[in-house]
Amino acid sequence: MNKKLVSAAVAATMVLSLGAMASADDAKTVGILMPTQSSERWINDGANMKAQLEEKGYNVELQYAEDDTAQQVSQLENYIGKQVDCLVIAAIDSGVLVNAEAQAKEAGIPIIAYDRLLMDTDAVSYYATFDNKGVGTVIANYIKEHKDLDAAREAGESYTIEFFMGSPDDNNALFLYNGIMEVLQEYLDDGTLVCKSGRTSFEDTCILRWSQETAQANCENILTANYADEDLDIACTAFDGFAYGVKAALLGAGYSADNWPLVTGQDAEVMATKNIIDGTQTMSIYKDTRLLASKAVTMVDAVLQGTEPEINDTEQYDNGAIVVPTYMCTPVAVDQSNYQEVLIDGGYYTEDQLK
Ligand code: GAL
Repeated sequence: MNKKLVSAAVAATMVLSLGAMASADDAKTVGILMPTQSSERWINDGANMKAQLEEKGYNVELQYAEDDTAQQVSQLENYIGKQVDCLVIAAIDSGVLVNAEAQAKEAGIPIIAYDRLLMDTDAVSYYATFDNKGVGTVIANYIKEHKDLDAAREAGESYTIEFFMGSPDDNNALFLYNGIMEVLQEYLDDGTLVCKSGRTSFEDTCILRWSQETAQANCENILTANYADEDLDIACTAFDGFAYGVKAALLGAGYSADNWPLVTGQDAEVMATKNIIDGTQTMSIYKDTRLLASKAVTMVDAVLQGTEPEINDTEQYDNGAIVVPTYMCTPVAVDQSNYQEVLIDGGYYTEDQLK
């Protein structure tokens, strides 16, 4: 290469690298807040969103608060102080975030609610979630079909059932409960389903912070107090973590394959799927976190690039201040009959992960 060409090449390289630096510096920063790493699903949610946003050229900061509400508030305040360009929040208890969200709005930082609705604030632009009531109806219809409740009713037979519902500070939990009762209430009313503990209301069955330990303790107490002479037939739980707690309580109470109840869950975590394969959990709800992340990313694009995000609900999610434009993904029931097709063939898990 002659001298002229060399210096032209050097100059071109400099322009290119300066250009790359400029675009990296110009890149907008998205601050993500996630509730906890104690459950595998949130780790996947955070990782998927980070990867998808980075692929689009955004800088990403990702923080977990380990179910500590004060920590999540300070993480949010920290992002506002750093002047991130957009926030994506999966709240622990959205009630405590309201003031900081108002500060974000003041500072011109748009907010996307992720999976859990942010309540009592007008600072939220969009909400990406799964059909939370739909999760409840899918769980309840699974119970209805697999126990053939209509046939049981005809024959004058009954099944025992206990409920383990979600956290009262998470808007999703009541939606899910309402979906369940929309299907099962009539069978409780006519005695086809018998809840021996008498705990059927949301207030009596909700579990703060979706705690596996509390679910286990509640199940142990219920089994001791109410099921000494009769087996529990159905454990209707709202979360894989609860199904793990229920499994431990059932094992402790001497249940085996012969009398193991139908146990429901939500999230189709790896451990839940393994339990489905070995029969200690009957079903779960598959919520593709890749899909949810991609919907949230379109919302980030919308607020930062002025594009239009896909929205399919403008009515259900009234947060007490505004009705938040929402995209609801569709939940799918998984059990022994379809986990291979849905989870493995669908590329969500590898066969090896489930061994
Ligand atoms: C809910 C979510 C569920 C489950 C639960 C506990 O908000 O809808 O899928 O993950 O939190 O983490």
